[in-house]
Amino acid sequence: MTNSTIPLAGVIGSPIAHSRSPRIHGHWLSALGLRGHYIPMDVTPDHLPDVLRALPKAGFVGANITIPHKEHVIGLVDKVTERAKRIGAANTLVFSTAGEITADNTDGYGFIQNLQSAGWIAGAGPAGVLGAGGASRAVIVALLDAGVPEILLCNRTRGRADALREEFGDRLRLFDWDDAGAMLDHCATVVNTTSLGMTGQPPLEVNLDRLHKDAVVTDIVYSPLQTPLLVAAQQMGCRTVDGLGMLLHQAVPGFEQWFGQRPEVDADVRAAALA
Ligand code: ATR
Repeated sequence: MTNSTIPLAGVIGSPIAHSRSPRIHGHWLSALGLRGHYIPMDVTPDHLPDVLRALPKAGFVGANITIPHKEHVIGLVDKVTERAKRIGAANTLVFSTAGEITADNTDGYGFIQNLQSAGWIAGAGPAGVLGAGGASRAVIVALLDAGVPEILLCNRTRGRADALREEFGDRLRLFDWDDAGAMLDHCATVVNTTSLGMTGQPPLEVNLDRLHKDAVVTDIVYSPLQTPLLVAAQQMGCRTVDGLGMLLHQAVPGFEQWFGQRPEVDADVRAAALA
């Protein structure tokens, strides 16, 4: 890339039309007065290797990666950061001027920043995690690194939770899916990482009666912004943190590396993402 080249970035997934990332990065580019473009790219898994190798040659400085490529992309790049290796998935690629591709995962970072910006404290007590899929892995790694004393985990399919405990060790304590309500009794933080509660999906039906009033409840689902879980937790008097903030915060490190300035997560970018 020469000095006069306009830096390009984008998000690669399939489907991609509903991604909010172009609005987020587009807002920051114009708010900061930076040259650059950020576009959605619909790429199928069979084309991903060729597309990745072509992008640096076309002026791209990096890309976000989303469903269904987050795990698969790890095996297609030149370098993988430690946290992306631990999570086993990547969401942010950075291309060197020589075309070398580094894969990082900023989902866990975004998750923790979102909670901390609402005054959350990792050491306050155990964190209860509902779900043991791909998103759960990023949340678990982030919570462990942030210093939560214990993670209580339950998942509909018990074997997936067992596998996470095997991998991430004895700071994880498992509960059966049917005992999710009892699990909440012990939690200072509650996180939904399942797709339940998302528009078009059934609600997450968990009994909140035993939830402490000073617990912080968050959902990685951000459509709708106020999921049934968050609404119910608010009614219990708990502090809630919606999932849009995680999406905004995970975008910060990529933007900074590609375009050279650290953007703010503020009301304006929230509005842009929701527009
Ligand atoms: P992601 O990468 O978004 O986490 P995933 O790996 O498919 O997606 O995981 C989806 C999570 O939502 C899993 O924890 C899944 O539970 P299972 O492991 O039992 O499939 C959970 N989930 C999805 N639909 C569910 C439902 N109807 N009831 C309970 N859990 C559900």
